[in-house]
Amino acid sequence: MKKVVLAYSGGLDTSCAITWLKDRGWDVVAYIGDVGQGEDFAAIEKRALRTGASKVYVGDLKKEFLSDFILPTLQAHASYEGKYLLATALTRPLIAKHLVEAAHREKADAVAHGCTGKGNDQVRFEVTSRILDPKLQIVAPVREWEFKSREEEIDFAKAKGIPLNVTKKKVYSIDKNLWGISIECGVLEDPSVEPPKDAYQMTVAVEDAPDKPTYLEIGFEKGVPVKVNGKSCEMEALVAHLHNAAGKNGVGRVDMVENRLVGIKSREVYEFPAATCLYTAHRELEALVFDRELFHFKEALSAKYGELVYYGLWYSELKNALDAFVKETQKKVTGAVRLKLHKGSCVVVGRTSPYSLYREDLATYTEKDKFNQKLADGFIRLWGLPFQK
Ligand code: ARG
Repeated sequence: MKKVVLAYSGGLDTSCAITWLKDRGWDVVAYIGDVGQGEDFAAIEKRALRTGASKVYVGDLKKEFLSDFILPTLQAHASYEGKYLLATALTRPLIAKHLVEAAHREKADAVAHGCTGKGNDQVRFEVTSRILDPKLQIVAPVREWEFKSREEEIDFAKAKGIPLNVTKKKVYSIDKNLWGISIECGVLEDPSVEPPKDAYQMTVAVEDAPDKPTYLEIGFEKGVPVKVNGKSCEMEALVAHLHNAAGKNGVGRVDMVENRLVGIKSREVYEFPAATCLYTAHRELEALVFDRELFHFKEALSAKYGELVYYGLWYSELKNALDAFVKETQKKVTGAVRLKLHKGSCVVVGRTSPYSLYREDLATYTEKDKFNQKLADGFIRLWGLPFQK
């Protein structure tokens, strides 16, 4: 019997996918990746088995997600189209890598996922799988099957006795992990309409945020966030702390129209409370400790890094090379940044570092000034010389 390892979430699509694959002669092994979506994995595991999976793996990927995917992306300040902080996009190569590993352990012929044919996630899964093992077959049931609507799919599930905990009316399509959340579908498909309050899961509306700001100090050690308000903290707990502090101040909401890889524009709503704080603070520390050329050069790489992640090219040579560059730059990214979270905004209000290049004696306009203003005249003449007619 042919064997396939399916990336399983416990939802309607991947549950129907188990049955659909079995109907086509596959022995289905389910792989559940815990990337901090905060679900009841024991219940999901049971559902997979009751639906007909011959075996289930639950992989706790949270640590690896943080250290090998989130951290380098944060240090690169990578985003897509300047707004999307890539939370969903980052999990796909991670899950795909573990799918391939599970396929090898299981001596399976194929891997499968529950992505539709219209999104970016299918690209990320499949490109990663082919990079890591071009011999593995890839099956994409949701792209192939004949259901025209969610209702039809639910009817199929009922007819096949698939255990579900879904309703016919699902308002949004949500993808959550420990770094943030992507919200699509329903009324959000009309880009002219403001997202209703219930679309957001992690942040309050600006008008409901407290009048009093929250101050927060984030400490970094060689580019890694290690402290909140002076207290050492593992990154997972630190992210959870920031989600809470930023979320209650309405910080981290994104509403955008983005260009998908498959050619369509889509309206996307996201929440990245912790990431918004960490990107802001980390960049500010670099502004303090990097010389001008390094700071500007690295800024120029962020968009490229973001594109590579978005396009599913995590395991590409360019991404590896950019990682090496970014890693090299992090040696002096040590210090603390103070943030003020208030009514949807996250602003820097203070920064310190033992590697600070800021010199008050040069910057000051008081009598402490050590800057020799007389040198400016010659500097300007020579600097502008090539452009003079
Ligand atoms: N547009 C985002 C991306 O391409 C979010 C995708 C959300 N995925 C999902 N399965 N709901 O990364």
